[in-house]
Amino acid sequence: MPDPMPPHLSPEEIRDALHRTADLVADYLTGSERYPVLPAVEPGEIWSSFADEAPEEPVPMDHLLDVYRERIEPAVTQWNHPGFMAYFAITATAPTVAGEALSAALNVNSMLWRTGPAPTEMEYKMCDWLRRLWGLPEDFVGHLVDTASTATLVALAAARHRHDPEVRRRGSAGRPPLVLYASEQTHSSVDKAAVVLGVGLDQVRRLPVDERFRLRPDALAAAVAEDRAAGLAPFAVVATAGSTSTTAVDPLPEIADLCAEHGLWLHVDAAYAGNAAVCPELRAHLTGWERADSIVVNPYKWSFLGFDGSVLLVRDVDELRHAFSVVPEYLKTSFLKHGGGEAGDLPHLMDLGFQLGRRFRALKLWMGLSAMGAGALRSGIRRHVRLAAELARRVDEDPRFERMAPAPFGTVCLRGVWDGPSEEETDTRNERLMERVNDAGPVLLSHTRLGPRFVIRVVFGHGRTGEEELETVWRLLAGAHDALSPGSPST
Ligand SMILES: Cc1ncc(COP(=O)(O)O)c(C=O)c1O
Repeated sequence: MPDPMPPHLSPEEIRDALHRTADLVADYLTGSERYPVLPAVEPGEIWSSFADEAPEEPVPMDHLLDVYRERIEPAVTQWNHPGFMAYFAITATAPTVAGEALSAALNVNSMLWRTGPAPTEMEYKMCDWLRRLWGLPEDFVGHLVDTASTATLVALAAARHRHDPEVRRRGSAGRPPLVLYASEQTHSSVDKAAVVLGVGLDQVRRLPVDERFRLRPDALAAAVAEDRAAGLAPFAVVATAGSTSTTAVDPLPEIADLCAEHGLWLHVDAAYAGNAAVCPELRAHLTGWERADSIVVNPYKWSFLGFDGSVLLVRDVDELRHAFSVVPEYLKTSFLKHGGGEAGDLPHLMDLGFQLGRRFRALKLWMGLSAMGAGALRSGIRRHVRLAAELARRVDEDPRFERMAPAPFGTVCLRGVWDGPSEEETDTRNERLMERVNDAGPVLLSHTRLGPRFVIRVVFGHGRTGEEELETVWRLLAGAHDALSPGSPST
């Protein structure tokens, strides 16, 4: 027997290392507030604090965990901090961490059913749990990918294949250019998908929105008609349910009607707001999404299930299989279908996208969701919606602030207003206002622009974000506004 590869850890040493890791996780998950949300590190500081070469000899785990605690943990942006109110907040919990750790230990690659029976079947099962929680029809089948960007790319590849099944073999050279429709508020992942798929950014129609930042169906209808008349090939629409800037939901029923009329694939990007469908009273915002050909929801975003993990639901899973399945000899298996029972007709996971290898993400979803329970998931989302409504109310009633968009979910768009300065000066002052709030440490906010206007977003989304963070962010916003007002010593 050759010596085992280092690290030569005995079972006891493995336990010690992982028990210490568990202590670090417990301290972190319950005490990330000891850090400012934004770390006080300079660019390059971490790079230069590590040796230039990998160590030749094994380094003891104890030392590595010391370095982790002293140098790495404080130098991340604290996404797992209840004051993280930027972008869209995300949450790791002890069960999701346990699921990730066990998945790392199993180290399974579930490309085929035979290379990962439990991961394959649990992935389909967990997506079905979520589908049911979201109240979507049972013909939707889901699978897990890393992020919404991947899901949207995969969905649009299936859309392209439906439009022109020959594209797999022949490519798209010599064919009328494909055209994709979205709104000017649609996430940039759609542009990236158009780049990767060879649609080209010039063929992404970024359509105008109404006063509530929702895609205008009349503009969609006109653009499709114009492109058809010009000999181009419209093939898909991406509608957003919960846009990144303002959480606006496009008019899904009207868009679904137009897609049906013109034979276009409807992909709904519900990466953020799809999570809200777990609460029946919030589902009305999403009416029409059940008519999509494909939907992406990121449970990592607002279902407290740890980054990463994005669900792509498709109405006809065979459309994915036909778009993607390429099986080299070494992956041919006698299990043409992946098992018996109700899951018997579902494809191998490798047939559902461009990736061959698949992580066992379903383990973390199962642990996270089961340990939390759907009831707690609903109460978490309801709490955030309530907190956002309360902040929106304060903004509406306070002449120092102005609300910039409706706030149907957990996100509020606002800006400070002052007597006197021009719109441009107000934008600059709001940038400074946000910097002041962020420099204070206990919360982190991020911005967007609506038209030319600088807008501050406040997101209630972390599992531990509650009343205290609402009070903190309101105090900091009001304090920064006052400090930037004429006559203030710090203006
Ligand atoms: C509406 C929407 N779609 C897609 C994405 C991209 O998400 P991911 O990072 O999972 O690719 C985001 C990111 O915040 C988003 O807000």
